[in-house]
Amino acid sequence: MKNIAIFYASSTGNTKAIAEQLSKNLDGIKEYNIKLTGCEYMRDYENLILGISTWEDGKMQEDWEKSWEEFSRIDFKNKKVAIFGLGNQKKYKNNFLDAMGKLYKQLIKANAQVIGFTSTIGYEFEKSEAVIENSFVGLALDLENKEDNLKKIEEWTTILKREFK
Ligand SMILES: Cc1cc2nc3c(=O)[nH]c(=O)nc-3n(C[C@H](O)[C@H](O)[C@H](O)COP(=O)(O)O)c2cc1C
Repeated sequence: MKNIAIFYASSTGNTKAIAEQLSKNLDGIKEYNIKLTGCEYMRDYENLILGISTWEDGKMQEDWEKSWEEFSRIDFKNKKVAIFGLGNQKKYKNNFLDAMGKLYKQLIKANAQVIGFTSTIGYEFEKSEAVIENSFVGLALDLENKEDNLKKIEEWTTILKREFK
């Protein structure tokens, strides 16, 4: 596994904590908080993990929103990208993880190969932009309502290790 990094932003620290956990699981790979660094360094990596939370009934976390124009200019051709999203399926059951879906759509438009889809089984929500053909487009985390987040991170990391070569 080479040339890999995590890019995230986080309002209350939840996405940051997951980014740190993922980095630990993946031999200490570099993490970038896009609030501080923007998106420019994404161009330097072949393999990327992007972390985003959903806010205000389906919106992207504010630092992602601020960086969106810069992000949208990046061509992800020949890059593999895995996404993890944080949300709350009980309180926001009609917008669960929508921001992860928005990120996915832009990545596809920008020629990325998106990997790391996960099952929706075991989640309770009504609607989500992050679901395509019954799967989440990345790792779906809900720190408020689920207790198996750590296990899911472990399983997802194993898949990423296989896919990111
Ligand atoms: C005011 C507010 C609005 C939120 N809106 C949504 C939402 O629309 N969809 C969702 O899935 N989660 C929503 N959430 C849950 C957050 O995404 C969740 O708490 C997440 O872990 C925050 O991560 P962060 O601290 O890294 O930004 C909302 C939380 C708050 C406090």
